[in-house]
Amino acid sequence: MAAFMVEGGYPLQGEARVSGAKNAALPVLAACLICPGEICLWDCPHLRDVDNMLAILEELGAEYSWGVDGALRLHMAGAEGYTLPQRISKEIRSSIFMLGPLLARFGRAICTYPGGCEIGNRPIDLHLSGLSALGVRIREQGGLIICDGAHMRGAEIHLDYPSVGATENIMMAAVAAQGDTFIHNAAREPETEDLQTFLNALGCHVRGAGTSNIHIRGGVEPIQRAEHRIMPDRIVAGTLLCGAAITGGCITLSNAIPQHMGSMLSKLREAGCKISCMEDRVSLEAPARLQEIKLIETLPYPGFPTDMQAQFFALATVADGACMIVENVFENRFKHGPELMRMGAVYTQKDRTAVIRGVEELTGAQVTARDLRGGAALVLAGLRARGITTVYGAELIDRGYDALDRQLRALGARITREETI
Ligand code: UD1
Repeated sequence: MAAFMVEGGYPLQGEARVSGAKNAALPVLAACLICPGEICLWDCPHLRDVDNMLAILEELGAEYSWGVDGALRLHMAGAEGYTLPQRISKEIRSSIFMLGPLLARFGRAICTYPGGCEIGNRPIDLHLSGLSALGVRIREQGGLIICDGAHMRGAEIHLDYPSVGATENIMMAAVAAQGDTFIHNAAREPETEDLQTFLNALGCHVRGAGTSNIHIRGGVEPIQRAEHRIMPDRIVAGTLLCGAAITGGCITLSNAIPQHMGSMLSKLREAGCKISCMEDRVSLEAPARLQEIKLIETLPYPGFPTDMQAQFFALATVADGACMIVENVFENRFKHGPELMRMGAVYTQKDRTAVIRGVEELTGAQVTARDLRGGAALVLAGLRARGITTVYGAELIDRGYDALDRQLRALGARITREETI
């Protein structure tokens, strides 16, 4: 067990470079299975979820090495297994992404129900119905999902909901299905575009990602060697900006794409932050006191991201007035609320709606991360609180932030990581 110890009251100042995006890296790592040759990924973040994906690829027969230059090199020729190892797959929800690429490469795949953060039911029905529409025969036996893709062919698929993971899984399977596939009501998250760029670098033919309609021309032979730079992490960028906002600081982020962060930047402006943007840089100067943010509703992109809800919840605890947060994407994503209450936050919650009333100050306390982004929100609250905050469950935060403590220290925060029992 590890914990972050945070001494509050030091404004974030200075410049930081944002890492590659976890949510882009995970599907791209799965898509590596489509290629039987060598791949080099630049800016791949070194995170616990990434390590778990690499462990699965290794068990399937792939080899990899991290370069001194931050590049991740993968050798996929030896990857011949199509049964996902159960123990690691249960740790990480993104293991489900491997169904599509395994079907594309081997025409079959066996997996178990995936794990991940406990932020709701997170079913995989849209993944499975999309694959069935491509002609994959799916049956369940002894807790395993057994997929036979011998008869895959292109199809018109209308998603009931623009699920990010289902969109990406179908994109990856469809590259091997003969004919054209159209995904309608597809997720429009920028990470789907990053996956499209990578699949096209592998020689596939994918168009339209980033819009609601994606077209895949299937049946193309993947090429043997490819490289790809993982896009910047908009959620890490947003978390650091919230850190500056909550501490009254002033920071500049490089390798951050403001165009991907529209909804959160607009809420930070509403709170009184001065934001200036260039093509791949964002600067934020916080006001003396955060102003009221009236309403935040999480929605699929380009709406406000559910992955930033907890961090803005933390901001609202010390902003003027009251903020209503409606969590539309996941049904169980307010676990940071009771922890923030230990630090003096005031809020009420009913079902998917929380109303937070800003207080003058938070006080340091012992709190526990219950999920990845909720854990990051507790660290942000700790940066602001009077005294020392201990955030237990740092491992959950490691799933999505590469050494968050080191990055915050470089911006002037007083935070250390301690191993606990
Ligand atoms: C991805 C992100 C995650 C983010 C989420 C929403 C990755 C690795 N993770 O997760 O960080 O919080 O998008 O932006 O990219 N659903 C179904 N059936 C399905 C699939 C999803 O009902 O088959 C529901 C989910 O329970 C949830 C909603 O759809 O309520 C959104 O899920 P989805 O967009 O699929 O999120 P993930 O891909 O799991």
